Amino acid sequence: MTATPVTAPASAPAISALGLRKSYGDKVVLDGIDLTIPEGTVFALLGPNGAGKTTTVQILSTLIAPDDGRAQVAGHDLARRPERVRAAIGVTGQFAAVDNLLTAEENLLLMADLRHLPRPEGRRRAAELLRRFDLTEAARKPVSTLSGGMRRKLDLAMTLVGDPRIIFLDEPTTGLDPRSRRTMWEIIRELVVDEGVTIFLTTQYLEEADQLADRIAVLDQGRLVAEGTSEELKRIVPGGHIRLRFATPGELDSAARHFGAAARDPEELTLRVPSDGGISTLRAVLDVLDAADVRAESLTVHTPDLDDVFLTLTGHGTPATATEMTR
Ligand SMILES: Nc1ncnc2c1ncn2[C@@H]1O[C@H](COP(=O)(O)OP(=O)(O)O)[C@@H](O)[C@H]1O
Ligand SMILES: [Mg+2]
Repeated sequence: MTATPVTAPASAPAISALGLRKSYGDKVVLDGIDLTIPEGTVFALLGPNGAGKTTTVQILSTLIAPDDGRAQVAGHDLARRPERVRAAIGVTGQFAAVDNLLTAEENLLLMADLRHLPRPEGRRRAAELLRRFDLTEAARKPVSTLSGGMRRKLDLAMTLVGDPRIIFLDEPTTGLDPRSRRTMWEIIRELVVDEGVTIFLTTQYLEEADQLADRIAVLDQGRLVAEGTSEELKRIVPGGHIRLRFATPGELDSAARHFGAAARDPEELTLRVPSDGGISTLRAVLDVLDAADVRAESLTVHTPDLDDVFLTLTGHGTPATATEMTR
């Protein structure tokens, strides 16, 4: 048999990884991660604090080497062609490169210099990014005076100076207020739609993954415990629930008799009734309580979050975060 010359197919994945492992001392951080991320898509790595998200980003962006496994990013082998990988990617997030003493504009120009853009081109690019991210007013202010949301935007703008085809966003909205979070989501969506970049995103928020990602992988203690579209994940993870709290164990018991599928917590005196979060199910729950003549002390509507995903997929809640380093 003669070998056919192999050319990269047009649909070669933007990122593929096989068996990535990383330990620090005795602690296994990544325990065999496989990934395939098609070009032009958004991939979300979902996991609680300490799951290994940043470590994965650091490996795929060549900042640290895995102990084992291999990966290709933008068509280049991570171990053999790290400089080509670096030229094709942008990384923002927990190791933000923003200089607080410089202004937003100076930061962008500095980045353009680092990327060896000719001066006029650098100025043009900086101005365009400031406009696009609504940072024009902040352009001449030192970064130290900007809000958290503006810094994140600047951080992302700095990444875009280099025109990366693949962008790693490590927890892009952690700590942001809901409004800034939505702005960031808009920006990310535009990047994908307008420029066809591939986004590798890490997040602790199920809602964020749901909003942005074509595919979501759930990382727990160094392993991927689920992967699929948001729809597929939601099919595995039960929807939200309505949580009813009662004043006495007696009332809890009488209510529990009327809700077949509900989970009782006798210590908290609560009942967890499955619900899609819609108004009609809420009304139905209230009607049942009325009909049974039981009074609930309080009621909360709960949409599914990372905790629900973890309880379902792993049988345990999100691991305690108190002892984790903040990195
Ligand atoms: N340089 C390091 N030295 C020792 N332990 C580390 C180092 N980097 C990460 N870890 C540990 O690896 C685990 C995963 O960390 P990380 O990838 O930062 O998680 P995440 O980003 O999901 O919060 C944590 O337990 C963390 O303490
Ligand atoms: Mg992290």
